[in-house]
Amino acid sequence: MRTQVMAENSTKTANLADAHPNKFGSESQSAQEYHRAAWYESRSAREQKNTKSGIVKRRSKMRAKTFNFLFGVAAKLVKAIGLHDHLANRAAKLVLTELDFHFHDLPPAFDGYRILHISDPHFDSLPQLEEAMLAALDGRSVDIAVVTGDIADQFNGPWKTFLPPMRRLISEIAPADGFYAVLGNHDSWRMVAPLEAQGVTMLINETAIIDKKGNCISLTGVDDPSNYYSPEADRALWTAPAGFKIALVHSAELADIACRAGHALYLAGHSHGGQISLPGGMPVMTGMQRLRKFSRGVWRHGGMAGYTSTGVGVSGMPYRLFANGEIALLTLRRKP
Ligand SMILES: [Fe+2]
Repeated sequence: MRTQVMAENSTKTANLADAHPNKFGSESQSAQEYHRAAWYESRSAREQKNTKSGIVKRRSKMRAKTFNFLFGVAAKLVKAIGLHDHLANRAAKLVLTELDFHFHDLPPAFDGYRILHISDPHFDSLPQLEEAMLAALDGRSVDIAVVTGDIADQFNGPWKTFLPPMRRLISEIAPADGFYAVLGNHDSWRMVAPLEAQGVTMLINETAIIDKKGNCISLTGVDDPSNYYSPEADRALWTAPAGFKIALVHSAELADIACRAGHALYLAGHSHGGQISLPGGMPVMTGMQRLRKFSRGVWRHGGMAGYTSTGVGVSGMPYRLFANGEIALLTLRRKP
């Protein structure tokens, strides 16, 4: 079923094409290279020292440990009663969620623009997820594909777990305006270069402009807010050029900042819709420290519309309950 989402955006009239003639806005090539070099240095040092920090101080680890213990017991029980294969196969089945988002200020050339939203593939968590994604998409054409993080499950795991499936998706989906991605809390800085070599445009606290004959929208992608937050993420959201702006963030935890910065649409994942949820889809755990009300599905914050995907893959244990894995096909509509 196709769902309609109406967004009450303020009117923005800036001409992005004039202000930002190249893909990464008005930054010069050398400024862009400096930005990346500084990020690599800072992020690699943080990963090496395992100095994680989120936008808010992480809560006591006791709660997460308790849930992980309970999930571990449940997983052993599932294996003991012989249901592991059945439940893991069910978790690997994906649904296609189709949504229309309506905006007053969508540039006319983007009326009907189709965004494939993939989140949390965790390619090494379940077998053949790329096959499941292609089956769910069932040959539909898309204009652009965006991945909101957790491309891998094992932090710093082997590249062969995520590069071949990404390569296949890029080649078979072949979106006209390309594949874009941000890192999630399971993803290392080391993945950026190999993914870019495959043709993925990684947005590392950066903004890309999609230009259609002078009509433009922008995509701003930032670092994961829960483990590797830095003020650079806020800066990128705030300094995205005026106009129709889309934020790509691993979790919905920066929704208030993106809204204040004038973004029209915010796409996220991270929560897996709880992965194990209560009947009706109420998540048991979201992995979010703030704005947990945005942990699943369509939501709105001020004039900004948002979508939090239940994700493709799994983490912790290879099962889902009342939280189907999904890919989402989001169509932008211009509201008269
Ligand atoms: Fe994830």
